Amino acid sequence: MKMILGAISTSIVLLASCNSQKQSDNCFIQNNIDNAVAQHTIQTDLIERSGKILNPRTIDSNGNIHYVPIDDWCSGFFPGSMWLTYELTGDKKWVPLAEKYTEDLDSVKHLKWHHDVGFMIGCSYLNGYRLNNKTEYKDVIVEAARSLATRFRPGAGVIQSWDADRGWQGTRGWECPVIIDNMMNLELLFEASIMSGDKSLYDIAVKHADTTLENQYRDDNSCYHVIDYCLSTGNVRNKHTAQGYAHESSWARGQAWGLYGYITCYRYTGNKKYLAQAEKIYDFIFTNKNLPADLVPYWDFDAPNIPNEPRDASSAACTASALYEMEVYLPGKGYKETADKIMASLASPSYRAEIGTNGNFILKHSVGSIPHNAEIDVPLNYADYYFLEALMRKRNMENDSKNTMAYVKK
Ligand code: GLY
Repeated sequence: MKMILGAISTSIVLLASCNSQKQSDNCFIQNNIDNAVAQHTIQTDLIERSGKILNPRTIDSNGNIHYVPIDDWCSGFFPGSMWLTYELTGDKKWVPLAEKYTEDLDSVKHLKWHHDVGFMIGCSYLNGYRLNNKTEYKDVIVEAARSLATRFRPGAGVIQSWDADRGWQGTRGWECPVIIDNMMNLELLFEASIMSGDKSLYDIAVKHADTTLENQYRDDNSCYHVIDYCLSTGNVRNKHTAQGYAHESSWARGQAWGLYGYITCYRYTGNKKYLAQAEKIYDFIFTNKNLPADLVPYWDFDAPNIPNEPRDASSAACTASALYEMEVYLPGKGYKETADKIMASLASPSYRAEIGTNGNFILKHSVGSIPHNAEIDVPLNYADYYFLEALMRKRNMENDSKNTMAYVKK
């Protein structure tokens, strides 16, 4: 509690001295760091008191925190947020917590039944390796990438996202479903390829990005959520949605995943076509008539009852983080300004929770999946993760315009 009060009073003092633009940026950053520390302190105290290793993802309809097992696709975000909190504060108190929650995911490196191992191991172990230089994390990262690579289907030229014969996915008649989210898993392959010298991991990432570029995007530069491929010919069997409003609608988080994913591909390949794709996606999002003035999208750009539809803060946070990186490659085109506007919205009381509320998550108002009637207008740990990542990138950018990408791990 002492720490939280300390953080609040630091913010008040800082806010009182925010005169110039530079000071106001620094105050914004510090205020949001203090807020994250306060929320994470309450969250981790709760976990530590339980004597267990718990992994918070969201809250349920009664406001209770929902914890997930390690094979949940969201299991990497909370450990990742611990690393980002360490990075943002420099306070070593976060390291043992980040290590403990990260290392709990060790066996995820063997997970082969879905594609999300990139999110899970990327946000946790990759950040841990980058910030804490634990060489043993390399083995987990490379092993996880090899597990992900087992889902590559050469006949279709893609990594298969979901198994077509299990769970609700098994009821859709798909053969090789690939979701746009899969673009977020490629960073793990690129990094593992550098770490291990195994070029095949790089080649799989590039092939997946190319096939997705060819088939997942529409003429207006929006994307489908699910493309179902024929495993032998690579022909597209279906263009569907799973979490969007309709097959032909534009699910908001999918647009953010694609934007972030293609910028990541440019980072590792230097291929300008990926950057051009990111610019096209940007144009789709930010010229869309249904994007609200605060730049936090409705859960689907074509949701039927706009403006009476839930927003999705997770899409906005992921987009903001991607745009800070895009500014590095394409400076002066307004990408940072757009990201700053998104961050100002997310950090406002409309989206940022009061300390000690919201299940101790930072952001309110995200959407998991409306078609599954799951996680509607709730906090989500990935909204917080990308918000903190964006904050870290913004801070790096404000401090040294030439060294904006401390996040690029070398
Ligand atoms: N990857 C699942 C989602 O974005 O909800």
